[in-house]
Amino acid sequence: MLKFGVIGAGRLGKIHTMNLLRIPGVKVKVVADLRIEAIKGWADSLDIPEFVSDWHSVINDPEIDAVVITSPTVFHAKMITAAANAGKHVFVEKPLSHDLTSAKKVLNALERTNVKVQVAFNRRFDHNYKKIHDVVTSGQIGKPHFIRITARDPSLPNIEFVKKSGGIFFDFFIHEFDNIRFVTNSEVEEVYAGGNVRWEPEIKNAGDFDTAFAVLKMKCGTLCVIDSSRQAVYGYDQRMEVFGSKGQITSLNDRETNVELKNREAVMIDKPLYDFQHRYTDSFVEEMQDFVRCLSVGNKTPMVTPKDGYEAILIAEAATRSAKENRTIKVDELRGIS
Ligand SMILES: NC(=O)c1ccc[n+]([C@@H]2O[C@H](COP(=O)([O-])OP(=O)(O)OC[C@H]3O[C@@H](n4cnc5c(N)ncnc54)[C@H](O)[C@@H]3O)[C@@H](O)[C@H]2O)c1
Repeated sequence: MLKFGVIGAGRLGKIHTMNLLRIPGVKVKVVADLRIEAIKGWADSLDIPEFVSDWHSVINDPEIDAVVITSPTVFHAKMITAAANAGKHVFVEKPLSHDLTSAKKVLNALERTNVKVQVAFNRRFDHNYKKIHDVVTSGQIGKPHFIRITARDPSLPNIEFVKKSGGIFFDFFIHEFDNIRFVTNSEVEEVYAGGNVRWEPEIKNAGDFDTAFAVLKMKCGTLCVIDSSRQAVYGYDQRMEVFGSKGQITSLNDRETNVELKNREAVMIDKPLYDFQHRYTDSFVEEMQDFVRCLSVGNKTPMVTPKDGYEAILIAEAATRSAKENRTIKVDELRGIS
């Protein structure tokens, strides 16, 4: 029996806890969250034996094999380091941290431990993106020349969340930065990014964008464009197209049904699945199952490593600097920062 502790029982903490509870041979022994009163009823309803406010008691529990870190990002670096130093395997939500210095410190600290750490870039486990990866990797569309990604949230985030999010490139684009590395199996050479505020002036006051783009040049030569908005009135818009020397592969939005209704006025089809909880349900299940397999099979390593988490942060930092300084940033120039 593998015993887990979960730190942070908000949106992602609840999703991962539910998915862990469905895996045979896994027990969630303890959940830690500062909001004891708000969470207790939920933890009790799942028969989770312990519920605590101080995350240290999860890490110091000798019976715990692995922790899931789903607290706000600002805590990730110190929680990963403490958990790994205590010999616990770690599954941590994206991103690793909000800055290069602490991300590098995490990598250095992990080198001195012997635990398995998976960063939760769940898109790698999504049926559409997995297929794109497999088709591109097998050479079916030849050499990838150009990638276009659209990533739009259905509704604006809470402004308090925006203030602590690390900015749109660290919080939102980071999934796409990882996805591009995954699909091309190449590193990013340079980034040009920019943004604006088209929806909510308070986002500007918080120093962030609600509408943004990033143009990436990969070391393998592939060019990429990502466009993004914190709100789309028709729902969660998640599309990707890879154009190559022998063809093209495209993933469209997933919908409740593929039924089309046609009449004199219009042709109608369901809107995209509304938000990440609905669109990526299966990928959250699969990424956790894969992590548990890593803990059960001695030599299996996590599909998304701390190094992958760090590379995505380098790209996010390059994008953030590019938007601020209005110039192209070479990712390798940031590698020395620690
Ligand atoms: N993979 C994805 O698609 C995805 C989507 C959204 C968020 N995330 C990531 O998941 C993480 C959590 O995001 P969320 O949306 O679930 O946030 P949330 O605010 O819903 O939940 C965070 C929880 O952590 C608790 N918490 C805060 N500080 C704590 C501490 N010191 N000790 C213990 N608990 C503490 C809060 O009380 C809250 O219940 C973030 O890093 C975010 O980037 C990932």
